Amino acid sequence: MPTKVILDVDTGTDDAVALMVAALSPDLELIGATTVNGNTAVHNCTENTLRVFDWIGRPEIPVRQGMSRPLARSQATQLNPASRIHGDLLDLPPRGADSRARLQPGHAVDWLIDTLLASDGDITLVPVGPLTNIATAIQKEPAILEKIPEIVIMGGAHDHGNSTASAEFNIWLDPEAARIVVNCGRQIRMIPLDATHRALVSLDDCRALRALGTPAGEAAARFVEKRIDGYDATQPMHRAGAAPVHDALAVCAVIDPTIVTAYFIPVDVETGGELSVGRTVCDFRFRSGRPANVQFAMDADEPKFVAMLTEILGRTA
Ligand code: BDR
Ligand code: CA
Repeated sequence: MPTKVILDVDTGTDDAVALMVAALSPDLELIGATTVNGNTAVHNCTENTLRVFDWIGRPEIPVRQGMSRPLARSQATQLNPASRIHGDLLDLPPRGADSRARLQPGHAVDWLIDTLLASDGDITLVPVGPLTNIATAIQKEPAILEKIPEIVIMGGAHDHGNSTASAEFNIWLDPEAARIVVNCGRQIRMIPLDATHRALVSLDDCRALRALGTPAGEAAARFVEKRIDGYDATQPMHRAGAAPVHDALAVCAVIDPTIVTAYFIPVDVETGGELSVGRTVCDFRFRSGRPANVQFAMDADEPKFVAMLTEILGRTA
């Protein structure tokens, strides 16, 4: 039986690859996608998500638009975080007038609440953007919690951040929301930069993805090449010509948890620190006396990740 998932996205090049993996993997049933302010303004994230589903021939997957700003933060970069790595709109054909893809009516948060309450408690949430939608849903209807078997989050960083020295982008953009979600009491797995930076996709891998001859392989190659340019120029990794595809690793970790090495530890989110706001504080030595609440991934299997991407993105709808 495929695992039912909802992806909460701020699409984004790596979100786009994650969406394609979730939509095409036979091990997952993608119930829908919800969009949130993040890599770009929420309406762009929505348009990008619809473009991705059109492109791979899955326009029937429902998309709902969600929160347009963080719970409490209002820095210009958090409200309109145009990204050098992603750009605002993906390089895919716009949603056409004749497309069957239509933005579903209703707010993402309400749809999340209704869908979870009506479920058998078998839908895994996979937020790969700021956690504003998920935190808002929990605040609005706490009864959803008992319906959530697991939340697999792309976010966080122990060793080093990417938005600041301390913080990873998804958590930094809405730390108050992240704090609510990691402390919600349900099973949480975090796929932070410590793991995603260990599973890079290279220019050679992009050639192999393009050679698959599928829409998903072509789009993934295009997006990852763009990412590699951006990373080489502004955030070089331990080897040139390769980049992380963070959000896709989180989806692959739902399909195969052994793709990452995780530790079950107490994790909280800093919301007050002048220099450390948005930091995921990882209590590896249990100094806080708090119980473990998060499976926090510190490593990933790069060959396995690339092999999974290549196998899944070689599929067509
Ligand atoms: C995260 O930030 C976004 O730019 C990416 O889509 C990913 O979800 C990585 O820090
Ligand atoms: Ca993202």
